[in-house]
Amino acid sequence: MSNVINTPEGTRDRLFSECADRRRVQDALTGLFDQRGYSEISTPEMEFYDLFVQSGTLLPQESFVKVVDRSGKLLVMRPDCTVPIARVAATKLKAVPLPQRLYYNETVFRSGLAHQGGNYETAQCGVELIGAAGLEADVEVIALAIESLQAVCSCPFHIELGHVGLFRSLAGELELPPQMVETMRQLIEGKQFAALNDLLAPHRNKPAYAMLSRLSRLFGGAEVLERAEELVGKRPQVDYLRQLYQQLKERGYESCIRFDLGLVHQLDYYTGVIFRGYAVGAGAPVLSGGRYDNLVEKFGRKAPAVGFAVDADAVAACAAQPPEKHRLRVALTKGRLQEQSVELFEAMGLDCAPIRDPGRRLIHQLPNYPLDAVLAKAPDVITYVEHGVCDMGIVGKDTILEKGSSFYEVLDLGLGRCRFALAVKQGNDFYGTYKTRRIATKYPEVTRSFFAQKGMDVEIIKIEGSVELAPILNLADAIVDLVETGATLRENGLVPIEDVAQISARLIVNTASMKLYRAEILDFIGKCEMELSKRHD
Ligand code: PRP
Repeated sequence: MSNVINTPEGTRDRLFSECADRRRVQDALTGLFDQRGYSEISTPEMEFYDLFVQSGTLLPQESFVKVVDRSGKLLVMRPDCTVPIARVAATKLKAVPLPQRLYYNETVFRSGLAHQGGNYETAQCGVELIGAAGLEADVEVIALAIESLQAVCSCPFHIELGHVGLFRSLAGELELPPQMVETMRQLIEGKQFAALNDLLAPHRNKPAYAMLSRLSRLFGGAEVLERAEELVGKRPQVDYLRQLYQQLKERGYESCIRFDLGLVHQLDYYTGVIFRGYAVGAGAPVLSGGRYDNLVEKFGRKAPAVGFAVDADAVAACAAQPPEKHRLRVALTKGRLQEQSVELFEAMGLDCAPIRDPGRRLIHQLPNYPLDAVLAKAPDVITYVEHGVCDMGIVGKDTILEKGSSFYEVLDLGLGRCRFALAVKQGNDFYGTYKTRRIATKYPEVTRSFFAQKGMDVEIIKIEGSVELAPILNLADAIVDLVETGATLRENGLVPIEDVAQISARLIVNTASMKLYRAEILDFIGKCEMELSKRHD
């Protein structure tokens, strides 16, 4: 019966004011796009699965909502509007001269992980300027992006610009294998400052090193462009961003523009400038866009293009709540890590008396620093930071590996060091059999990806408590678990046979908070780094 009266996860009924709020945003945006000479087009809600897979897409295939048609062909609910519009521009609109100015007001469908609280249906309003290359076209579209947020955001917002070509050319100079370039891209995108330094350390003597190692820190106002040139001299991509800035400044948009030279997402899709919009009150970007010169050609028509989409519901939601004065909030993992985090904070000069004597309170205001601390279980630290209700969090890499990450993982704090290991009963020859091995673990995702990399099929059993019991009781052939001193394994007759990953606590930051409260967050990170470097010495 519950499948009859409830809606599927990630979907919901929208009643009255929610419909009105969404409609207000959509009307304002579509009115603006019409006024600027863009024409509306609408593509089917369902398309062939092949369209998105073969044309290259921004999204992982797991996020597609799949449907089977009556002939057994695999379809997807439209996960993105740009790909179908590129198809239309190259086929049905083939005879129409370029440039074409198109806009859409559609729902896109993407499934997320279970119980993460996200919407699978998102109302998007966006534009695509097809068949126009160069500065003038980029200025037109970015200016329209700013005007769009001006029209619908009652809260402060900004648009942040980056350029995918900069990373590409710098990475090319290091002559690294493609896999390492991808790892470096992920570290820059995730603002994993320390891990990036470690990866690049062997390339210190190359000119591109100075810039690549700092790329993820190069975000903020126009001074970022100066800083980039100090590091590596003149670069065409930085120069291009400056020209864009100049043009946007002349149109009076100076105060809404920021830069992030570490914006390096989806290199295979975007080909030039990329941009995102952040609004106070939204924990994720409310607008996203960029130049994609190779997509339309995949459907048979050569046409450079640039566009963006606004998340109409996210904008409507932050417009509905009046902005309050922001105080930074950090989520600490309760227990052992809480104790070590407090020691670190105190060494940084923060008065942590309220956390030392917490009583039953879960939120604590620090008396001598503008920061509130929230005490939470490790997976919840990630949830709170991902949703933007906490700006920062301190959590173990074990939980990050298990839950995945869509936040910045800025520092390895070196606290709570231990490792994930594969362990078996003493004398057990784990690899010496063809039988499918059974692994007990509290970390099924970490275990799945470890054995997937080895190309080994295993049966994983999720255990909630002391996982060491499973091999003793002959429920499993091995365990994947955290090992710190090794005492628990020893006392239970188990031996580690392979390391899976090294673990320590990380400082994580919500992606929107990092941009909206840059100065405050960088101050906190700077204090952490200073204390950590003292500990290293
Ligand atoms: C962890 C882990 C091991 C133990 C390893 O459990 O799951 O059981 O620590 O530490 P050792 O190598 O120093 O013996 P924890 O004590 O955190 O409790 P939990 O089982 O409730 O997670």
